[in-house]
Amino acid sequence: MTIWTFLGRQWTRLPPVPKGAYLKDKVVLLTGANSGIGLESLKHFCLASPSKIILGVRSIESTQKIVSELQSLHTDLKAEITFLDLNNLSTIKSLPETLKEKGIDKIDILINNAGIDPGNTIKPAEFTEDGYEKTFQTNVLSPLLLSLVLLPLLQKSAKPKIIFTGSGLHTTANIEPIERSIENNTSIIKAFNDKETFDNKKIYSRSKLLLQMVTRSLINSLPNISIITVSPGLAITNLGRNHDMSIGFIIFGTPFLFLNARSAEKGARNITSAVAYGDQSYDYWSECAPSYSESSWLSSGKGINATKIFYKEMIDEVEKIYPGITKDLIV
Ligand SMILES: NC(=O)c1ccc[n+]([C@@H]2O[C@H](COP(=O)([O-])OP(=O)(O)OC[C@H]3O[C@@H](n4cnc5c(N)ncnc54)[C@H](OP(=O)(O)O)[C@@H]3O)[C@@H](O)[C@H]2O)c1
Repeated sequence: MTIWTFLGRQWTRLPPVPKGAYLKDKVVLLTGANSGIGLESLKHFCLASPSKIILGVRSIESTQKIVSELQSLHTDLKAEITFLDLNNLSTIKSLPETLKEKGIDKIDILINNAGIDPGNTIKPAEFTEDGYEKTFQTNVLSPLLLSLVLLPLLQKSAKPKIIFTGSGLHTTANIEPIERSIENNTSIIKAFNDKETFDNKKIYSRSKLLLQMVTRSLINSLPNISIITVSPGLAITNLGRNHDMSIGFIIFGTPFLFLNARSAEKGARNITSAVAYGDQSYDYWSECAPSYSESSWLSSGKGINATKIFYKEMIDEVEKIYPGITKDLIV
């Protein structure tokens, strides 16, 4: 994506927050609901008469406070807070059971919003207890596993939908580790979980490219579910919490950010609009409408081939984590 395309997208005037009771009788599960784009999406959803909103978070106390405040404004809001840590796969695997205990056996809309950016500094890779590099697990593996684990609940909905939160930065990702793995006939997953070649500054955009590869493949595997990968655009949230504030960034980066970034509320409109209006699958949704990825590699022969190979690897990986979980997919 060129800087001009980026600026054009950022400066596009977004439509207002969708109006009306588009969530009537619907149960929504939202991850990362206690901050940034997730929190603003939650506020939008409160206006849309949901049957119930389930908030999958790891910070129960702060989320409880948010819910209490929202319930004082929206007295009919039914919210359920449930512990979910994307860095701990067992909390994902046990979620259907946890929800069952709370009397929830159907989900209409799953919103995989939670994600991390590990920052702009050179740092060694951090690994989760499950043995994966943290950004890879949080941004790629866990959203896929969560979607598959919740499939039986989604299949009970008349119009199921899964939203993934992508990023325009996927277009800037260096594809070299992917192409090298394919050339050498080695695992792409291993390449992204290798502490020797790990690059902290590049992992965020790469993770969003891998997510884009997984989600566009998932559309074909689940034709009866509306699957949408939403790009919220550059928005001011807490995502930059691991970024180092160097003098250079303060002088050049901060003015650029404040001039061109959206508010978290505007970023959230992209998610809200996909929930309200996106009634089929779209592999990219930005500026509140169906869109397209600016990555020419993704739609090239090499990109299509790499997407197939990586998706197959991911399917095998989730099957190892949770045997039988991919049985309903067309692969
Ligand atoms: N802001 C942008 O410019 C931008 C642009 C493109 C895409 N995005 C994407 O938008 C999504 C939301 O990000 P944001 O900008 O709103 O950032 P944010 O304010 O930092 O919010 C991130 C949310 O994800 C949650 N989260 C992180 N790791 C988690 C884990 N292991 N388990 C459960 N929840 C976890 C956080 O919860 P805790 O409070 O517990 O950490 C928080 O609620 C992300 O997927 C991000 O990549 C953002």
